[in-house]
Amino acid sequence: MFEKEIVDVLRKKVKGEISLSVPPDGSLGDFAFPCFTLAKELKKSPVQIAEELAKTISMPDIVSKITAAGPYVNFFLDPAKVAQYLFAEILGKKENFGSSKLGDGRLVAIEFSSPNIGKPMHFGHLRSTVIGQCLSLLHEFNGFKVVRLNYLGDWGTQFGKLIYAYLNWGSAEKLHACPIKHLYDLYVKFNEYVEKDEKYQGFAREWFSKLEKGDQEATSLWAKFKHYSVDEFRKIYDMLGVTFDCYNGEAYYAKKADAAVALVEKKNLAVVDEGALIVRLGNDMPMMLRKTDESTTYASRDLATLLDRIDEFHFDTILYVVGHEQSLHFEQLFKLVHLLGFSQKFVHVAHGLYLSPEGGKMATRKGKAVFMEDVLDETIALAKKTIEEKNPDLKNKDKVAKTVAIGAIFFGDLFNDRVKDVVFDLHRILSFEGDTGPYLMYTHARAASIVRKAKMKPSKECDTSLLQDPAEQRVIKLMAGFSAKVQDALAQYKPHILAQFLIEFGRAFNEFYHKCPCTQEKDKQIQLARLCLIECSRQLIENGLRLLGIAAPSEM
Ligand code: ARG
Repeated sequence: MFEKEIVDVLRKKVKGEISLSVPPDGSLGDFAFPCFTLAKELKKSPVQIAEELAKTISMPDIVSKITAAGPYVNFFLDPAKVAQYLFAEILGKKENFGSSKLGDGRLVAIEFSSPNIGKPMHFGHLRSTVIGQCLSLLHEFNGFKVVRLNYLGDWGTQFGKLIYAYLNWGSAEKLHACPIKHLYDLYVKFNEYVEKDEKYQGFAREWFSKLEKGDQEATSLWAKFKHYSVDEFRKIYDMLGVTFDCYNGEAYYAKKADAAVALVEKKNLAVVDEGALIVRLGNDMPMMLRKTDESTTYASRDLATLLDRIDEFHFDTILYVVGHEQSLHFEQLFKLVHLLGFSQKFVHVAHGLYLSPEGGKMATRKGKAVFMEDVLDETIALAKKTIEEKNPDLKNKDKVAKTVAIGAIFFGDLFNDRVKDVVFDLHRILSFEGDTGPYLMYTHARAASIVRKAKMKPSKECDTSLLQDPAEQRVIKLMAGFSAKVQDALAQYKPHILAQFLIEFGRAFNEFYHKCPCTQEKDKQIQLARLCLIECSRQLIENGLRLLGIAAPSEM
């Protein structure tokens, strides 16, 4: 946050690019300027240069000491001034504290969630939903415009299976009441039949081919499956606080696949191989754009989708938040679209799977998929139990339980580097103690309660030089690093950078809170300075959690 002031004074003495590092140990200052490159240029030893610079550069207002240590010039920030600056900034900007205009209004398209209809629509899609939501919020907070895209898996051979299965074994009531589960049961049953007798595969193919040709019965069943399923998805998204600008799925773009494939053929990028149309892009696996029976493929639909999106949204960057098992698919897709002459930035933001606490993929005892809705209900019930124990008099217990449960799930995911698999352990993520969402939410509520009950109001006019305790200074120091962490998380598309920082901050805050009493402090000036530190910490936690898609209740 204060690098700029330091770089500005250095620039008066040093030519070229200036980059500061952060010393590993606080006793060496807050920022360091390494003199190695300069030494080569000036043909002097870096130690000598550091000494000269330390003596001759002027002191920025925010700095209290400049020293030379070996080949480095070290800068020590003045904690009181830093706090003064931060308090004014946070109390003034409130929910915008930490934001930037980095994006300058540029548009980023973010595709995430994208569950399938009928096929195992399971809890795993929650990862993409949670990460995508956070990346959308991070972009908006930094001045980008965002379009949120949900690419529903609403096309493909599984619909042939579903139609056959529904016509033979389905129930209209069940479809209406629990569409996702009913369709999934039908899908599982169908696959059991195929295992016994291959002929069922043929029935599915027939029905899908009818669907592709626009057969009325097939189309109307497909539309029904989709309608009911989307309604149910929307309920889950509402609960999670997630919205989308566009729900166009594979079916919508399937209609545009032929035109997209024609473009590839026109550029002579495709060849016919055993009746199918394929593109070879250097990897071992070719990319199939048309099946022998002329039908579209996952790849051709994705190609049509990307071309259409380029046309419709005019984005600079598009992110695909999808599991890493599809890495090859996206690598090929992006390569092909580049070959077609497009130069936007295409990114596969890959993530790992959820694993069950016993190890292995998430599945229920019967080996079936785990449904999002069931997990959400279970988490909410557990959260309610904890709240009833901890705070039996709380008003709106149900509402708070829901917020805590969803916060726990979001944080439980985002705390981990997205590329890794995550063990989904309900009891762990709901704990109020570990590295969890509820821990931070509780810390926030505690800070909010002090501010609410205090007899004075936080004000930037407080005397920050009274915040001398190392616990206080640590909180201030971390506070100064908030916006840089937000921007790091954004630049790397890695929410865990922010989530892990918030835990570090929460721990520092709790240490300060226990060590330095505020309301019981007799000196009114110290009390006021601490109250400001508490309010600014509260605001930081609120903003950080919000960027992770988590609401911070002021009582829980
Ligand atoms: N529906 C797919 C699945 O669940 C994910 C879609 C990923 N996005 C894409 N543009 N291919 O596997």
